[in-house]
Amino acid sequence: MDLAIHLDSTSKIPLYQQLTEKIRGAVLEGRLKPNQKLPSSRSLAKSLTISRSTVTQSYEQLESEGYLETRHGSGTYVCHQIPDEWLKSQPIEPVTSKIAKASTLSQLGKSLISIESLELSEPDYAISFSYGNPASKYFPMEQWRKILARHCQNSPALLNYAADAAGYFPLRVEIANYLGRSRAVRCTPEQVIIVNGSQQALDLIARGILDSGDWVAMEDPGYLGARHCFMGQCANLQPIAVNSDGLDVEVLSQYHQKFKLVHVTPSHQFPTGVTMSLPQRIALLQWAQKTDSLIIEDDYDSEYRYGEQPIPALQGMDRSQSVIYIGTFSKILFPSLRIGYLVVPPSLISLVTTAKWLCDRFSPILEQYALTDWMGEGHFERHIRRMRHIYDLRRQTLVKALKEYFGSRVTIFGENAGIHLMVKIETVLPDDIVIEKAAAAGIGLISARGYYLQPPQHQGEFIFGYAQLEESEIEQGILKLSQILEQMKDEGG
Ligand SMILES: Cc1ncc(COP(=O)(O)O)c(C=O)c1O
Repeated sequence: MDLAIHLDSTSKIPLYQQLTEKIRGAVLEGRLKPNQKLPSSRSLAKSLTISRSTVTQSYEQLESEGYLETRHGSGTYVCHQIPDEWLKSQPIEPVTSKIAKASTLSQLGKSLISIESLELSEPDYAISFSYGNPASKYFPMEQWRKILARHCQNSPALLNYAADAAGYFPLRVEIANYLGRSRAVRCTPEQVIIVNGSQQALDLIARGILDSGDWVAMEDPGYLGARHCFMGQCANLQPIAVNSDGLDVEVLSQYHQKFKLVHVTPSHQFPTGVTMSLPQRIALLQWAQKTDSLIIEDDYDSEYRYGEQPIPALQGMDRSQSVIYIGTFSKILFPSLRIGYLVVPPSLISLVTTAKWLCDRFSPILEQYALTDWMGEGHFERHIRRMRHIYDLRRQTLVKALKEYFGSRVTIFGENAGIHLMVKIETVLPDDIVIEKAAAAGIGLISARGYYLQPPQHQGEFIFGYAQLEESEIEQGILKLSQILEQMKDEGG
């Protein structure tokens, strides 16, 4: 069989690529039919006066694309069903419309598409009070790099599947010891399970414990990362107001539905920043025991506490296996590390470990090895002490500037811990107008409004993250903000 093919030996396009395109075109135009035999590589090479390996390379490429097939002992053929013909036989329908068809989705899928898009990045502001990231500038990257490099050299076991889904055991030992010392958490290393940040901890718990229609109590305002996990499972969410003692357990006790979970951030309530008082903690533990509910204690930034002594974790006070404790390294090392952990009651170790395995087998091992050394060699607690001092100065500057420039028009919440605080500014202006004006002046601001399940009547609650800002930037930013609000007031706002 002769193939009417002309190749241009002067072209920059390699001959094998030209040949591939010509044969593919002949198949698509129907000049070569399904099941039609092609010339042998030897005879085609001879007729085109090219090397045989050029033809072989081209045939192999088209085989991998599904246009040709080799039949052993017989030769090379056009496939009986060619890919583009298959595509042509399909209805012309945008892929998205199929995905969006609710009938094709699981219950989880349906709730996921109903969740509003999660904020991934924010515009570049000259001064951003956005919350979340620690001061990455101070992270001792060189020291971290050396520890990572050490393990890259000596650890062939790093490269294979043989890792424990619950995490690298020596790291779990370090974490159990650290939590015992610093948070009065009482656990064995076996109860510590390493995950990809607290977010994965919340997701695994939600999936392992909640069925559609189950009730979950949440602090209001509260953490969106947790709310979305519970919504994903189609749980019913019951907002519980937060007062100056944290989640109001008296209000919680008045509800009669059976709660499977309650999510709390007792060390530094997110976003208000209040610390749950000891009496509230005791009341919450008693409530959980009485109602047979599980408490998720999300201890996301308790390492940073200024002045007063931390109140021991709920987990350490619990005597009825009612608490799942969650911690993260995001605020101490850096969030893209994606290492967090759960401390689960013994009865949940196997469930959470299996859920973790199914999700992604285990968290990356190199970083777990390095983190174990970083903790074991004392760098971890040294870094916390150093950062606590830096954040404390920034926090003091922020509080001072707010008081100086806003006077009695501000109320500051939750300044004793963490790397953000919440502020209520007396204003009748809607939050989005304030945010818009601030953004136009190069200041990034977050309203607390979106964190409420039951949006409040009042305006003017904002979250101020300060970890990444120099003291001079904090001062300037607050001054500018006060000027903007003053100007809006003068303009009748
Ligand atoms: C209440 C709360 N929990 C947990 C986290 C940390 O999440 P991750 O460990 O997934 O980075 C945050 C992050 O900002 C948070 O605000």
